[in-house]
Amino acid sequence: MPLSPMGYDYGFILNNLILLLTTSLSLFFCSITFIEGFLTSFFYPSALIPLLPRLHLQFQSLGTQQQIQEKDMAHVEPENMEMNLYQVNSAVRRPRILLAASGSVAAIKFANLCHCFSEWAEVKAVATQASLHFVDRIALPKDVILYTDEDEWSSWKKIGDNVLHIELRKWADIMVIAPLSANTLAKIAGGLCDNLLTCIVRAWDYSKPMFVAPAMNTLMWNNPFTERHLMGIDDLGISLIPPVKKRLACGDYGNGAMAEPSLIYSTVRLFFETREQ
Ligand SMILES: Cc1cc2nc3c(=O)[nH]c(=O)nc-3n(C[C@H](O)[C@H](O)[C@H](O)COP(=O)(O)O)c2cc1C
Repeated sequence: MPLSPMGYDYGFILNNLILLLTTSLSLFFCSITFIEGFLTSFFYPSALIPLLPRLHLQFQSLGTQQQIQEKDMAHVEPENMEMNLYQVNSAVRRPRILLAASGSVAAIKFANLCHCFSEWAEVKAVATQASLHFVDRIALPKDVILYTDEDEWSSWKKIGDNVLHIELRKWADIMVIAPLSANTLAKIAGGLCDNLLTCIVRAWDYSKPMFVAPAMNTLMWNNPFTERHLMGIDDLGISLIPPVKKRLACGDYGNGAMAEPSLIYSTVRLFFETREQ
């Protein structure tokens, strides 16, 4: 290597200058990357969140045992997130209440009952033939479908078609029969199922709640059959919303009038919300 007149080694100086330059450049680019990353996460932290699992996975390709375990967990995380989302959705879904009316004069309050429940829940309604003499169909909430025995048969044409009473039973979270006539009470207690309402009850899954609000003349209520039948449905796990004493539609005074729709509604809602906690 040539030496300067002063005796300096030019090759040595040049090498050191190149080394200094490359080190400075590396430091400069590292700092830029660091500052950019810092500013991005500071001002847009949420922008980084979707990238995290992917970043996480890229780091695992380095491959220590711990990192491989973390990678496995990173695979599990998105599935868990989906499951939580589903659970949240199902938790926030409105309760599905199947309201049913049988042939008591108290069925004149059925539309009112449907209005009470539809403020809070998704409601579908079922009515026996006899109850249709009392139910005011025009007054039902617009979004509540009323199913009758006719629908049970008109919706089924051939094997493979849906069976209405099974579909309704699957759909409902809770069934409420209000009013419950003496006749329908007796049929449920005896396991009979000759119409849409009693078929739903016969197919019911008793891990789901069912409430009944009987309504009948005092003489019918006091008849010994009533107690027997009430014991029968109690064994099934059906909850009773008892009738009240008052002047009945027939003019008699005594026990047997259906509980008020607001009381039926608050009883069911309280039960549901207490159970959900
Ligand atoms: C005007 C009238 C009012 C009636 N009110 C009642 C009643 O409040 N409670 C009852 O259990 N039956 C009552 N019945 C008798 C039922 O309608 C009858 O037993 C019918 O078969 C019930 O059918 P279902 O249980 O299939 O709805 C009444 C009948 C009539 C004609």
